[in-house]
Amino acid sequence: MGKFLISGGTSLGGEVTVSGAKNAALPIITATLMADEPSKLMDIPNLRDVNNLCRIISKMGCDVKRNQQEIFIDPLNLNKPEADPELARQLRASYYILGVLLAKKGWARTSLPGGCNIGNRPIDLHLKGFKALGAEIRLDHGIVEVKSKKLKGDRIYLDYPSVGATINILLAACKAEGTTIIENAAREPEIVDLANFLTVMGAKIKGVGTDIIKIEGVEHLHGAEHRIIPDRIEAGTFMVASALTRGEVFVRNVLTEHVKPLIAKLHEMGIGLREDIAGVLIKGNGSLKAVDVKTLPYPGFPTDLQSQMMVLLTQADATSLVIETVWENRFMHVDELKRMGADIKIDGHSALVKPSKLTGAEVTATDLRAGAALILAGLAAQGDTEIRDIYHIERGYENINKKLASIGAYIKKAN
Ligand code: UD1
Repeated sequence: MGKFLISGGTSLGGEVTVSGAKNAALPIITATLMADEPSKLMDIPNLRDVNNLCRIISKMGCDVKRNQQEIFIDPLNLNKPEADPELARQLRASYYILGVLLAKKGWARTSLPGGCNIGNRPIDLHLKGFKALGAEIRLDHGIVEVKSKKLKGDRIYLDYPSVGATINILLAACKAEGTTIIENAAREPEIVDLANFLTVMGAKIKGVGTDIIKIEGVEHLHGAEHRIIPDRIEAGTFMVASALTRGEVFVRNVLTEHVKPLIAKLHEMGIGLREDIAGVLIKGNGSLKAVDVKTLPYPGFPTDLQSQMMVLLTQADATSLVIETVWENRFMHVDELKRMGADIKIDGHSALVKPSKLTGAEVTATDLRAGAALILAGLAAQGDTEIRDIYHIERGYENINKKLASIGAYIKKAN
């Protein structure tokens, strides 16, 4: 399973480069299947989720070649519109094949998706969208099947601005007849990146990045080249690491407009920041002011940075309040942080974080971002920390141990 061994207490310094965004790469890789020609994608992170998705589409008949951070996907021989159930269960984003293949082949099947165990994770809004476009849906023993002779555009109101549902409906609508309007759509940068790629492929999309997206269906999409945006959550994790260890780290390859909510909070806490075109410098000196944080859909504070921010708040000068509104089960890192001396009380969707001294301990990564929080806690703690079940962390962070070691962290991977 693998574990990380961390000796904490040192300040980080230097420069670290952020990889391409996992949550943009996954739908964009799937979107390449909409064309009948090859596509080339750049800045694709080498991650377990990405590699599993590539294995899924290879098994469907696509030709996938990887050369470092680039991948070439030729979907010409795609002949099996069905995701391998074992692989599909391992990553949530496998459900994007439903939208893509519904549009392209009129039929698709996958098992109900996996991913982090951070809440109920229903897909009712995805299915509501497919139905509105005219698809028939069958759910049977954890298998989802979608079918339609010809999708027709419609107006779809999302009860919640779900990232996954917005993406899946957007994908399906690109080849539907007529106009589709998604209302209360999610506005995350990863959706904008996907829409930019689809537009280069020939799709007609307007309003992406706002809460109303309009899609005019087209008959044919062609292959395209695209560079994935930087991962704002990885960037945020390094920014917090620098602040937390009272370090001075330049985090390179960051689109700072994508991390504005974190920048605002770090600023409120009194942390030194300098933004430039290539990235952001974080200077973590002096005492840290307590702040309250509430997670919200973009452009609110991202739920995927909540656990990392909570670690930083344990080092603030007073009590902070963290409210999680996106996922109902996203405080699983708290019990592990308590083993390291954190003083945190959970009440429903809120957590009261009191100042505390962290000390090294044996802890377990329960999900991807919870695992990232434990790494940060290990860096700030006095003594040695051992983090088990790091496969969760490796689903979403490329070479995190090597990157942290390059800026002065004492972190080693062991079996
Ligand atoms: C994506 C991200 C994940 C991030 C989340 C919110 C990927 C691969 N994952 O997940 O890292 O934490 O956005 O920023 O991009 N919901 C429903 N019905 C649905 C779909 C969602 O009720 O059909 C609810 C969920 O239970 C949850 C909320 O909507 O409470 C947000 O989910 P959603 O935005 O869909 O997240 P994902 O796309 O799964």
